[in-house]
Amino acid sequence: MRVHVVDHPLVSHKLTTLRDQGTDSPTFRRLVDELVTLLAYEATRDVRVEPTEVQTPVAPATGVRLVTPAPLVVPILRAGLGMLDGMVRLLPTAEVGFLGMARNEETLEAMTYAERLPADLSGRQCYVLDPMLATGGTLAAAIHFLVDRGADHITAICLLSAPEGVERVDQELSGLQVPVTLVTAAMDERLDDKGYIVPGLGDAGDRLYG
Ligand code: PRP
Repeated sequence: MRVHVVDHPLVSHKLTTLRDQGTDSPTFRRLVDELVTLLAYEATRDVRVEPTEVQTPVAPATGVRLVTPAPLVVPILRAGLGMLDGMVRLLPTAEVGFLGMARNEETLEAMTYAERLPADLSGRQCYVLDPMLATGGTLAAAIHFLVDRGADHITAICLLSAPEGVERVDQELSGLQVPVTLVTAAMDERLDDKGYIVPGLGDAGDRLYG
């Protein structure tokens, strides 16, 4: 998995406020939305486009447009839902699929409780949205869902990531022929014994939705 940590002062500034336990829920939601848009700018660097022509008021011009079908955006419920608006603002023609996954807080294994993805993703680019990549179990399972349906290019956008989780995703994806990229605002230090990212920002789902 290719890992891209977005190094930008605005991203760091917003992420610092997001981490602050004094940040209230409305502000937290707004910052998640703003951060996604900044990360999405980097994450869509290799979105597929094709040449096209337009007529300006002055002369013909060549340019590009997104290929169809447009990419599939997949927020992982619950917390990933807080990232959806910021992403589709940048990719308004994107199709949206949903995965509901919850981590068992004792075993730390991901359990899938909802799945609404197109049946055939052959040749599709997919963007997975989840604020946290902790042990990596959730993201690895989500990527397997998409690859099993034919997705051939996957980018995960996570606000925070832990090195242990990145390593696990790498291991679980070894042998996959599909290119996978992680775009994240920060690679934190480690996981604690409860599987929380340190220093992290706490439980993103709870801070978004209570
Ligand atoms: C959190 C987070 C990720 C997952 C990361 O969700 O949003 O989906 O845990 O953990 P992992 O990398 O160890 O698998 P959670 O299970 O708390 O559900 P929620 O979004 O409904 O709060």
